[in-house]
Amino acid sequence: MKKILPILALLTLIACQTKDPVEQKIDQLISQMTLDEKVAQMTQLAGGQITEDYENLVRAGLGSMLNNVGNEINHYQRIAVEESRLGIPMVFARDVIHGYRTIYPIPLGQAATFDLALVEEAARLTANEAIQAGIRWTFSPMVDIARDPRWGRIAEGYGEDTYLASQMGAATVRGYQGQDSIIRLAACVKHFVGYGASEGGRDYNTTWIPEVQLRETYLPPFKAAIDAGALSLMCAFNDLNGVPMSANKHLMKDILRDEWHYTGLLVSDYASSENMIKHGNCANLKEATLLSINAQMEMDMENRSYIPHLKELVNEGLVKEELIDQCVRDILRMKFRLGLFDNPYCSVEHPDYYNAESLQAAQRAAEESAVLLKNNGVLPLNAQPTVLVCGPLAHNQHDQNGTWCFDKLDSATITPLMAFRQWDKEGKIRLIEQLGKHWSREVNEQNTVQLTRLAKQADVVLYFGGEESILSGEARCRAHLDLPGDQSEQIRAIKATGKPVVLTVMAGRPLCIGADIDCVDATIYAFHGGTMQGPALANLIMGKVAPSGRLPVTFPQTVGQIPMYYNKKNSGRPTSNPVLYDDIPVGAAQFSIGADSYWLEYGDKPLYPFGYGLTYTTFEYGPVTLSDTILPFDSSPHCLIASCTITNTGNREAVAVPQLYIRDLVGSLTRPIRELKGFQRITIPAGEARTVRFELTADDLAYWHLAEGVTLGADGAYTCSAEPGEFHVWIAPNAAEGTPAKFILQD
Ligand code: GLC
Repeated sequence: MKKILPILALLTLIACQTKDPVEQKIDQLISQMTLDEKVAQMTQLAGGQITEDYENLVRAGLGSMLNNVGNEINHYQRIAVEESRLGIPMVFARDVIHGYRTIYPIPLGQAATFDLALVEEAARLTANEAIQAGIRWTFSPMVDIARDPRWGRIAEGYGEDTYLASQMGAATVRGYQGQDSIIRLAACVKHFVGYGASEGGRDYNTTWIPEVQLRETYLPPFKAAIDAGALSLMCAFNDLNGVPMSANKHLMKDILRDEWHYTGLLVSDYASSENMIKHGNCANLKEATLLSINAQMEMDMENRSYIPHLKELVNEGLVKEELIDQCVRDILRMKFRLGLFDNPYCSVEHPDYYNAESLQAAQRAAEESAVLLKNNGVLPLNAQPTVLVCGPLAHNQHDQNGTWCFDKLDSATITPLMAFRQWDKEGKIRLIEQLGKHWSREVNEQNTVQLTRLAKQADVVLYFGGEESILSGEARCRAHLDLPGDQSEQIRAIKATGKPVVLTVMAGRPLCIGADIDCVDATIYAFHGGTMQGPALANLIMGKVAPSGRLPVTFPQTVGQIPMYYNKKNSGRPTSNPVLYDDIPVGAAQFSIGADSYWLEYGDKPLYPFGYGLTYTTFEYGPVTLSDTILPFDSSPHCLIASCTITNTGNREAVAVPQLYIRDLVGSLTRPIRELKGFQRITIPAGEARTVRFELTADDLAYWHLAEGVTLGADGAYTCSAEPGEFHVWIAPNAAEGTPAKFILQD
């Protein structure tokens, strides 16, 4: 034994010497901290004012605040660094969701760009502005998969598809955090997990998601963001399969920590732990605290439960201090990674907001996020038209930016009307301006009479409709998805004058506006597009830029079809030839309408499919060719190359967005009829053709299912792997078009 001790001592010494220097500093700090200081470090309070109470909490070692900016941050930070016992800097957070001062399209709009480089650039530029205000932690990206446009928060995520959301979330994390040793703006990927499946599209509502679907649909975007380096993660409000996420050990420990080995910081949502009392899985705040800490919820956002109860629970032996130390370690590590111990303050003297680089990126993002849904040839407008610009979103510097943007200056927003005034000033158009109404929900027939009179003087009417931003985002769920107010009546009245009408919709969600679109000559779906959406839309309408946006979410014909998404299962009776409601003779006692899966009034088709979008030319997709029709099962890194030649058959250059889809014809679990596995943006000059190539490996064909011979629900029952058999592969312009090529994944 005597011989072993020196060796052990040497090994320990080597281990300490080789331990990451940051971890060594953390060890040292934790060894000096009292339990009170540890618990304070795990607490985040909502700022927004300077009070003596908060100053005292900061002196006692408060870990973080949200919703402070600028000098208020420096005020509290100075107290933390100079007056608290250990001088641990605070980290200041804010919901910088799609821009700080310069506002980019809402994330759903950014997803419509299918442009990862642009989304990453927007996040990088957003970080530049937020950091100047002292914000070093943003509660973004939100990667909740949403298949229900009634849910107001569909605006904040990247739509219905797991692959697209994974790619977008990772790009946003890279943009925020940067690639340097010192992280610029800490990302916080949210809301973990399943929040987008809130029953009935009603926010905060219950969710029931089988583990296989959790792993297949809802978890991968979080894993992608974590693999991109996301420093933190936020839990969701919903209860999942009966357990509120704030206490969901299976997700937050078994999967997040033990399976994914995530070492980042886990923060609650705003009072989400305290909300568990209302959920009904605990009786009081102390119980809620115990449930949260046992799920390793490391930072307590405005539950105000850790400070009063955590020390008590430790002293009662119900919580081990080692667990507290682990939480504090993850918090301190984020602060070290942000460089806050060396540079805790922000310099607010010479802010560089709304700079040319940011505004250009915001405009490009707004241009690329706009989706041309219909065009009978009226667009792009020809030279020097007389245009009537009208509608509630034509000149609304607030609503144009959409939900979750607290720090913008409305006055900096350039609206479509402002942009067309500039085109008029340059003599490129003759402008008639009359909004007709300022708010989307207004109802006023007199406005409509006025618009129809002015429409007769114009060559074309540009109607900018959609939703007020207050109708979109958190706790903003709608049971109807029509254009609010009397916009539809206005559009019909204007169209009745016989003039061409271009409808542009600026909204936070898909709307069921098929009848409105039928009545007009062209429709651009632009989402809420941010600071530069006005010039962006003018460029698109006047043809300076060709539309390139594609839908990141299925547009249902009616609310009654929801949930509706492209990667649906086939069912045992897929729709073949639906006999529709009006086809059935009235009074028919017997009439064969088959036995397929569809709605009598609408068949099974959406208004527009995922991935859909037109432009100012036409593209012809050739057949998909494969480098082989056999893909060996143990093929990686061997891959199959799928290629397709796309021809621009029109008379102007434009961007095509080919999408790669697969289908697994037979699986041990039923498989979707299509799954997005890749996409590209490619500019093709008029009359020319380009060939796009995608690589497919067996890993791309893997999916979550039950492990061999294991029954549903048994622990560790799940595996992610491909199964041999026949696959179809498309390279198509959207999820509803194209002819597949076939290959065999061979055992
Ligand atoms: C909100 C949202 C969350 C946000 C947090 C802080 O309730 O659910 O997304 O980051 O509170 O504002």
